[in-house]
Order: sequence, then C-alpha cells, then structure tokens
Amino acid sequence: MSLQTKIQNRQARVGVVGMGYVGLPLSVEFARSGFTVTGFELDQNRVNAINAGEAYLGDVAEHTMRELVLSRRLSATTNFEEFANMDTVSICVPTPLRKTRDPDLTYIISALDEILPRLHRDQLIVLESTTYPGTTEELVRPKLEESGLVAGKDFFLAFSPERVDPGNKTYTTRNIPKVVGGVTARCTELASLLYAQCVERVHPVSSSRVAEMVKLLENTFRSVNIGLANEMALLCHSIGLDVWEVIEAAATKPFGFLPFFPGPGLGGHCIPIDPHYLSWKARMNGFEPRFIDLASQINASMPDYVVQLVVEALNRDAKSVRGSSIHVLGVAYKRGVSDCRESPALAVIKLLIERGATLTYSDPYVAELREEGLPLRSAPVREALQNGCDCVVVLTDHPDFDYAYVAQTGKTVVDARNAMRDFPGEHITRL
Ligand SMILES: NC(=O)c1ccc[n+]([C@@H]2O[C@H](COP(=O)([O-])OP(=O)(O)OC[C@H]3O[C@@H](n4cnc5c(N)ncnc54)[C@H](O)[C@@H]3O)[C@@H](O)[C@H]2O)c1
Repeated sequence: MSLQTKIQNRQARVGVVGMGYVGLPLSVEFARSGFTVTGFELDQNRVNAINAGEAYLGDVAEHTMRELVLSRRLSATTNFEEFANMDTVSICVPTPLRKTRDPDLTYIISALDEILPRLHRDQLIVLESTTYPGTTEELVRPKLEESGLVAGKDFFLAFSPERVDPGNKTYTTRNIPKVVGGVTARCTELASLLYAQCVERVHPVSSSRVAEMVKLLENTFRSVNIGLANEMALLCHSIGLDVWEVIEAAATKPFGFLPFFPGPGLGGHCIPIDPHYLSWKARMNGFEPRFIDLASQINASMPDYVVQLVVEALNRDAKSVRGSSIHVLGVAYKRGVSDCRESPALAVIKLLIERGATLTYSDPYVAELREEGLPLRSAPVREALQNGCDCVVVLTDHPDFDYAYVAQTGKTVVDARNAMRDFPGEHITRL
C-alpha cells in the first residue's frame, strides 16, 4: 500500500518525537483522527505518564488521554528502534539558543541520529521545531540522505511550523491552520495530506524555507510589537500618561491597528528566542537586521524597569528594597499556564533578592521555583499580606488571583500587567 493510501485510510503509523507542549497535543490530535500514534521521548517519566493515560500538560484533557491510551491509539516509548515501524515522523524537539545567542540544534541532530539508521523508503519526515530558514534543506536533508535514500524520491521531507498557543482555549492544534512546505512538490503534497487528516486547514507553501520563515516572521512580529508597546509604556510614564488607557482607546480603530500590551518582559520558549534564529541566519548572509535587536533590548530591559517601579513605590513609604518583604503574584511566563521557561518573573525575583528583599510568591500553576538557584515554594497571598508584606508585585495576571483582596489589603502594589485596572488607588503603581 502506498504512503498516500495509508494516510488517506488513516492506517499510516504516526510517530512524534518530543512529547512536550507541542508534541503531546499534536499526538493527541493524530490519535483522535484515527491514527495509531507512537510518541518518542527521552524522559522516562513522560513516557510512563502517557502510557498511564495521564495528561501532564494543561492543554490535553485527562479523559481524552485515557480513552486514546486504552484504545491503543496512543502510546509512548524511549525505544528508538520503533522508528523503523513508523510511516511518518514529526519532530517536535526544543530549539533553544546557546549562551552566545546562536541557534542550538543539538536536539534536532540527536533526533536525526536516531532516525537515520531506521529511515526507510516511503517514510515521511516532518520537522516542526522552530528554526532558521534553510535548516530542513541544509541540515536535515543531507543528514538523512547519508542513508543512501533520496528526499522526494525514496523518502519525503517537509517543514511545518507549530503554532500552538498553550493555554489558549479558542485556538488549538486542530483549528490553527497548518503551514506546510516540502523539499519537493511531492513532499509538500504528502505532508499536507497527513496534516489535513487532523487539522481543519492546511496552507501549503512553495518550499521548506518559506515555511520556516513564516514562523519566524510571526514571532518576530510579536516580539517587535511587544517591544513597541513596552517603549510606549516607558514613554508614557515619562510624560505622565497611562499607556493602558492609550492602547485601549487606539484599539477602537477598526482597521490599521492591532493592540499589543506592555509587561515585565518576554517569556516562554518562543518569542524571546525565535527572532534570534532569524537574525543569526541574516547575519550569516551579510544582512544586519535592526528591528529584532532593538525590540529584544527594550523587552530585556523591562525586568529592571519593574524593579525601578518597586524601588520608587517603597520609597514613597520611606522604605528600601533591602529588608523589605516583597510578594510576587505569578511567576509563569503568561496567564493560565505553568511554563516558567524564560519567564521575566525569574529575572525580577533575582534582581529583588540581589537588592536584599525577602521574597515570597503565589502561583497556582507553579508549586515550586528552582530556577536561578532559588528554592521557593508558592504560598497564598493572604499569608504574605497577613505577615505584613511591604509590597505586592503582579508579574503574571493569572485569572485565579483575588485582585480585589490585594487592592484592599496590600500596603503597596506594583502591577506590571494591568491586572488591577478595576481597583484604582494611590498605593497601586501600574506599569
Ligand atoms: N511551547 C510552545 O508554545 C511552542 C509553540 C510553537 C512552537 N514551539 C516550538 O516547538 C518545539 C518544541 O517546543 P516545546 O515547547 O514542545 O518543547 P518541550 O521542552 O515542551 O518538549 C520537548 C520534548 O522533547 C524531548 N526531547 C528532546 N530531545 C529529544 C530526542 N532527541 N528524542 C526524543 N525526545 C526528545 C524533551 O525531553 C521534551 O519532553 C520548539 O522548537 C519550539 O520553539 C513551541
């Protein structure tokens, strides 16, 4: 049976490498569409959790996982020999930056090292990890062709960026359109056919390079616009205006304006990182991008600015940061999720501790913080306020917090997210 027929009949054996925020929801969608899916993962705990039907990430419903695992549609393994039995393999491993801000493709390379000896005719390999334009053509293709098989003829190869937005209940893996670009027209066709079985809309493009660039444009767009919103916050502060009121009013224009909001800085595995993949590639080709670095500088300065607001707020009460007890509300990088990767809260907490503050935090999604050498445990805000905390700093506007209570009880509040918008008061400083 041809790969095309197997995909159409949903008899293709689907493999997904990396069972994190991207790979797990994708595997669930493939399985819900009728495919038998194997998740390949290095972390034995994650493999055990999947095989026990446990949803360890917020975006996948426990009952769906259990149902798919019980019906044998979904399983996970650390045994990479299983690649040999897969008809398709989607690679969803991390793509971080090195300390030098160069792309770190070691996870992709280690996944390819495992796939290579098991690559076979008629197999479709799709890279989903965010990366610079050219990765699929220049790195993945030659690596897989070391097998002696030729892409587009013996096996098929494409790039399809993942656009999932963890915590978003409206747009999920199924209803976010999927961009697909293969290294040949046939590769694009087969990869599009595969994703069309489990997502509502597929948008094919002319090459894998275009598909790679699409994702980086999207995330650079966000980084630059958040950078602009942050600069507007600093500017408005300097001339005594409320940036939130200005943005809210500008957003009433029905065309030509998209609201972006300031905050304590960028977080997560995408927006702070992905634009640097693009600037690295541009520089390798002699092009010096300016917007990316400028936005990155402004966004990276926001934790310092929040600390400055805390210093000013405490100063009004004749207090210094040193010796003050400060309670942070929210440490995840955005509302409603538990992900702390690159979270600006970590930078703010570190800066406040360095200045001598005693730090506590509340986050219903993050029970413990170990990053930056900080063993801290989440504690209720009421406890902190009853213990006489000097300042509450809102860094993540989780829907679960009782902002009215904080407004009523807090001595001094610094709000970096406009979460206290309904509770004006002299003791509340907004970004
Ligand atoms: N998190 C997001 O919101 C998001 C959104 C869109 C795109 N992306 C991109 O998707 C990719 C994956 O991100 P994520 O957030 O899912 O990462 P993650 O850290 O949540 O998950 C990655 C998983 O891959 C596993 N892994 C690493 N190397 C492996 C290997 N060689 N074999 C098997 N498993 C391996 C890790 O153990 C981990 O469980 C990244 O390129 C990211 O930029 C992420």
